[in-house]
Amino acid sequence: MYIIGGSASTALAERVSRELDSCPFSIPYSKRFPDGEMYLRVGGKLDGEEVVIVQSTRNDAEIVELLLLVDAARESNARRVIVVVPYFGYARQDRRFYPGEAVSARALARHIGLDADGVITVDLHSARTLESFQPPVFEASGIPAIARLLAHRPVDLLVSPDKGGVDRVRRMAELLGKPWIALEKRRIDSEHVELQIPEGAPQPIPGTHLVIVDDVISTGGTIVAAAQLLARAGAGSVAAACTHGLFLKDAFERIKAVTDGIYSTDTLVNPAEKASVAPDIAKILRERFGSG
Ligand code: R5P
Repeated sequence: MYIIGGSASTALAERVSRELDSCPFSIPYSKRFPDGEMYLRVGGKLDGEEVVIVQSTRNDAEIVELLLLVDAARESNARRVIVVVPYFGYARQDRRFYPGEAVSARALARHIGLDADGVITVDLHSARTLESFQPPVFEASGIPAIARLLAHRPVDLLVSPDKGGVDRVRRMAELLGKPWIALEKRRIDSEHVELQIPEGAPQPIPGTHLVIVDDVISTGGTIVAAAQLLARAGAGSVAAACTHGLFLKDAFERIKAVTDGIYSTDTLVNPAEKASVAPDIAKILRERFGSG
């Protein structure tokens, strides 16, 4: 296998290469033309190789770069091209709510998969997007990576900020052998939510260590509200953990002010990247695509 790290995921791509017995790894050369368009060239001997391209797609420029990377690998006569999209952007709109809307998750899945022999992504916003990829697609989870990290930290209770995260927090609870609860969440607007501990759910024992587990932290509104609620309930410490740390605007500082730790995986570059999904991606590459 030959790993290529796009600009959004260079460090993670190198970690994946190390997990695969330090298979060849390179970073493409790129520059911008005067009009802003990207020029891209991949190096190395890709002829006949199984090429793995690692690139998150948080914004439009990163999506275009991924499309160019796939094309460059094809031009270099790669035997197979596997696309790893650790953070798959545009995934929130996974259905049409109003007439005339674009279903962005489906559109991106179709185009990213168009010239790929396989796709790997991590904790997609919605499982239904998996159906929109044409080549075989595999979804890794950020939960084992976070669990490996939390195994060395004090944790008494795991908390999902909403019912939608129950499967996630339950999986984490199983891996760590800890109890969990799910809060009730009502979204007020894109930056604010109301949360409460459901009636009948076990209340946090005062003084204990709680960790909130979410798939993505965007504005930080959910984590800030959850941390404040759990502190009022008597938590001794509250940490926040997520797979994808977007940390928009001042989200990181706002969360830092109300928590005792912030942990994210390395699907996105951010100041909380403390757990790597590289072993989980490498496992899929090895088992599903065969490294060589
Ligand atoms: C919601 O369904 C997700 O699991 C996250 O809780 C949400 O996207 C976090 O967004 P924010 O950080 O803006 O509250």
